[in-house]
Amino acid sequence: DWNPGNVIADQVAAIRAQVGDARVICGLSGGVDSSVAAALVQRAVGDQLTCVFVDHGLLRAGEAEQVETDFVAATGVQLKVVDARERFLTALAGVSDPETKRKIIGREFIRVFEQAAREVVEDAGEHGAEVKFLVQGTLYPDVVESGGGEGAANIKSHHNVGGLPDDLQFSLVEPLRTLFKDEVRAVGLELGVPESIVWRQPFPGPGLGIRIVGEVTAERLEVLRAADSIARAELTRAGLDREIWQCPVVLLGDVRSVGVQGDGRTYGHPIVLRPVSSEDAMTADWTRLPYEVLATISTRITNEVPEVNRVVLDVTSKPPGTIEWE
Ligand code: XMP
Repeated sequence: DWNPGNVIADQVAAIRAQVGDARVICGLSGGVDSSVAAALVQRAVGDQLTCVFVDHGLLRAGEAEQVETDFVAATGVQLKVVDARERFLTALAGVSDPETKRKIIGREFIRVFEQAAREVVEDAGEHGAEVKFLVQGTLYPDVVESGGGEGAANIKSHHNVGGLPDDLQFSLVEPLRTLFKDEVRAVGLELGVPESIVWRQPFPGPGLGIRIVGEVTAERLEVLRAADSIARAELTRAGLDREIWQCPVVLLGDVRSVGVQGDGRTYGHPIVLRPVSSEDAMTADWTRLPYEVLATISTRITNEVPEVNRVVLDVTSKPPGTIEWE
């Protein structure tokens, strides 16, 4: 009989047997999989685990706090936070090409994570315990698609946390390898992982960096964060979170259109709403959201975010459109 309590008990025993008294490291992205994997390992070996969270500044409003505060409070995980926001902005300056952005974000991410991992290893060295293991939130569907990652990997270069540093030799701890997503969520809830994390919709590793068409700047990130936060709040308020697979909110940074706001003419940027329904993200349909919800989102964004004077809806299925715009 499947129940999350049994899975936790089995995995805790398996992790203890695998790890012994060695030290363990885990890269946290704020997503469901890495968070639940980390919580499970923490349950098994406590402070032998150190989690590393790289804040690349491309997260949505409130997400860094969800990891730094809520997740730590709920699980007691030992967390090393690396504030790399300036570094990513600098590396992305002047870059508009989507694939170049993805490569830069992936490259910087690995560098920052490697450096943090080295520091964890060095700190542990003083206490005589070696870091031998790296936790990954690999799920059963990832294992089955043995090629690894998603089928679309060659359409857009997907970057995921945990590309292994070559010169750091870790063995993998993958406590979610036999589980499907809904089972991972049940295990997460049972472990006390915050609901805001357990029910999070998919969010790409490169984050808002691939939801700004054009150059990524601090100002544009702020505009997109504000618009995204309104859209998410209204979708949640309308009770639509679990009906929608995900709803990217995209800022067309290189497009301007004329508007009239207050007593004046404006020349602002459009925001695109991209709500999709899907089973596995390989194909998707655009979600027929209720008009009233769309109207509220549009009104709030244009009232509350002065840089935006137009909100548009993406009504393209996948294929031909991908879910993300870049
Ligand atoms: P596309 O845009 O290819 O997206 O239709 C399919 C799914 O994958 C997510 N996505 C990513 N996830 N790293 C990730 O971890 C990435 O680089 C990445 N790019 C896209 C996307 O949000 C959707 O769920």
